[in-house]
Amino acid sequence: MSESITQLAGKHVLLGLSGGIACYKVAELTRLLIKSGATVQVMMSEAATQFITPVTMQALSNRPVLLSQWDAREPNNMAHINATRAADVMLVAPASADFIAKLAQGRADELLSLTALARPAQSCPLLVAPAMNREMWAHPATQRNVAQIRADGAFVLGPGNGDQACGEFGDGRMLEAAELRDELIAFFQPKLLAGKKVLITAGPTFEPIDPVRGITNLSSGKMGFSIARAAAEAGAQVTLVAGPVHLPTPRGVQRRIDVQTAQQMYDAVLPQAAAQDIVVATAAVADWRPAQMNEHKIKKQDGQKAAPLFELTENPDILAAVAAAVDQSKTFCVGFAAESQDLAQHARAKLAKKGVPLIVGNLGPATFGRDDNALLLVDAKGERAIPNGDKLSLARELVREIAARITKKTTTP
Ligand code: CTP
Repeated sequence: MSESITQLAGKHVLLGLSGGIACYKVAELTRLLIKSGATVQVMMSEAATQFITPVTMQALSNRPVLLSQWDAREPNNMAHINATRAADVMLVAPASADFIAKLAQGRADELLSLTALARPAQSCPLLVAPAMNREMWAHPATQRNVAQIRADGAFVLGPGNGDQACGEFGDGRMLEAAELRDELIAFFQPKLLAGKKVLITAGPTFEPIDPVRGITNLSSGKMGFSIARAAAEAGAQVTLVAGPVHLPTPRGVQRRIDVQTAQQMYDAVLPQAAAQDIVVATAAVADWRPAQMNEHKIKKQDGQKAAPLFELTENPDILAAVAAAVDQSKTFCVGFAAESQDLAQHARAKLAKKGVPLIVGNLGPATFGRDDNALLLVDAKGERAIPNGDKLSLARELVREIAARITKKTTTP
């Protein structure tokens, strides 16, 4: 089964729609949640039915939509109780300014707000995706209400920033369907790294020979980006330092620094390393760079068959420099070893060479560019294989492993 269809397996989502043009995005959101393995019970306010029909939402969710607190189909006539007792989460998307105001006041004069109030807060947490015009969002009344619902335990997702249906531009757009799905997936991950600062290097580096050519490698950055996502999902403040890759920044990553060369990666990482709780070096850093970059493209010389010769110079070892610079009782350093053979042996050699407590071995040719991988964790005591799986699942497993190690470190005298 592919990774995307298992992310929300077993989760029952109570999806509430209040009135707003962003209702059109919720058709797609419903599809994405179901594709990720969730079951979805849709509940709509009367205003929401002005924007999208219950017929559409029923067809997509495969369940009759809940529309009224007077719905006689419910045997006990208590849709607000039944729906929340069955759900793992209540997500209100879109949440209009009016609906947020109702939540802040604890009103219960129609099914959606009644249900939010009747929810058992522990077993059915409330996630709210605001959607409104920027002036409505910025209004002190809305900001006051948002602060109040946060204080009451609601999790506010977004809003995003950009073009608005009214033709204006600013804060207040509802997050896109895929973003809301990812927020929900992240919500269910255990917060093993809450409050921790994590820096991750990812991708290849590119060492220019001339303005159009350079030395690089086949690393796609997918493993490092998956670790960044998994760390963010676990509640960490993540800084991602990325070489040239074609990957979007995972949601929840606080800061991304794009670099090209190993030296630039070194310059971006070293000043920040000591302030981190965890540094994970997944980048496939080019070991050498041309000693000199040619200002102009190197041209073939007429009649000469000889290829140009380059002098290479060694790049700084970023991970080894971090390991030497930080207090390792405060900053836990993890290296990767990308090998083509004798994985365990090479990974073990790198433990000492880099001066770090954990090296994660993987076979470069078998994983570069792919969505799956297999890992071998190597430390001073031994080895543990994490068998082949999608990179996000492996990343979450690695996050669990690192969290367990730093917890042990801080609790053992
Ligand atoms: N690394 C680094 N800076 C370098 C080279 C490597 O930070 N200049 C880090 C990588 O991010 C990885 C670990 O060191 O975490 C091992 O990288 P790898 O390319 O497997 O090993 P090298 O040190 O380059 O050794 P070799 O090429 O001989 O295998």
